[in-house]
Amino acid sequence: MKLFDVYPLYEVKPTRAKDVYVYDDKNNEYLDLYGGHAVISIGHGHPHYIKLIEEQLNKIAFYSNAIQNPLQQELANAIGDHSCLYNYQLFLCNSGAEAIENALKLASFHTHKKRIIAFKNAFHGRTSAAVAATDNSKINAPLNKQQAVTFLPFNNISAIELELSKGDVCAVIFEAIQGVGGLDEPKEEFVYAMEKLCEKYKSCLIADEVQSGFGRSGTFFAFQRYKINPHVITIAKGMGNGFPIGGILVHPDIKASYGMLGTTFGGNHLACKASLAVLDILKKENLQEKTKSLELYFRKKAAKINHIKKIKGRGLMLGLEFNFEVATLRKTLIYKHRIFTGGSSNKKLIRILPPLTVQEKHFDYFFNALKIALKENK
Ligand SMILES: Cc1ncc(COP(=O)(O)O)c(C=O)c1O
Repeated sequence: MKLFDVYPLYEVKPTRAKDVYVYDDKNNEYLDLYGGHAVISIGHGHPHYIKLIEEQLNKIAFYSNAIQNPLQQELANAIGDHSCLYNYQLFLCNSGAEAIENALKLASFHTHKKRIIAFKNAFHGRTSAAVAATDNSKINAPLNKQQAVTFLPFNNISAIELELSKGDVCAVIFEAIQGVGGLDEPKEEFVYAMEKLCEKYKSCLIADEVQSGFGRSGTFFAFQRYKINPHVITIAKGMGNGFPIGGILVHPDIKASYGMLGTTFGGNHLACKASLAVLDILKKENLQEKTKSLELYFRKKAAKINHIKKIKGRGLMLGLEFNFEVATLRKTLIYKHRIFTGGSSNKKLIRILPPLTVQEKHFDYFFNALKIALKENK
């Protein structure tokens, strides 16, 4: 059987990985500044992560959500401690898109409305409502296009008020730092206006933290730079360090009822343990705090390179914008210098999403390689 050919692949076959390094089948070492798309938070193959998953695998790996699984409550408590969102409620699923799907569905249940407001350049995933709320018509099938979604630019307060005042909007969904879109952020006054207007017109505010959450941006959630209380927060990626897990945090004003949401695999024993291990290491190794000084170091080094037009993002969710398209440069970095970086829908931007265990010496290595690669690409 052939694979369904939907991914243009780089010619690299990783067979093992450790901390910030990935090794291919010929034992070549690659510096991972991409984290498999912001997924690797505590580093590849962290011993504590392996230990907790192994121990759990020897006890019970999975049973359905029809029985009690105290690990889910343990995980809810740990996320509460890290985020200080003690009175939110946790629902667990398996991926980012699933988290978005559940968040939007919940907003619609709660408000009895069905139109979504999303933003230009937003990316929220590939499932039905999630992809409809993603600003890319190429990945929306006719089925998805039935969904009522209005895309607005960031920072236009009167436009969002005009749409919300029509009274049919169940949710405004936003990324505090856009990931796939290229690291743009809404302005502070717009974030506060969104919250206020959602309250006024009885719509839910959803913060999509699938990519920016779990300490990557310097605060536990990127929206926590502001003092807002979204109705729903979506989580995934770094939450499991590669083990598939996602979830939503639900504001205490939204009440649950039996059967409202559900999943077979979501919140299984192994997934909970993986995420508990991530939270243990985030705390023990002070990784969230460290992202701040690493960002400053990265910015200082980047500022010395003339070709870089703009440095974007926060913490270890960073972008380097050039005045030319970067596809060839990224290829040179992978094949010649053995460094993984990320692209985005902004073709001139390189995304840097390393494991949070990355160190200054790794950035030194990257910037030296980048300088050489820039000359090679002339
Ligand atoms: C902000 C954001 N939301 C949602 C998703 C979808 O997550 P997943 O690919 O796990 O379905 C992504 C994936 O890149 C994302 O970056």
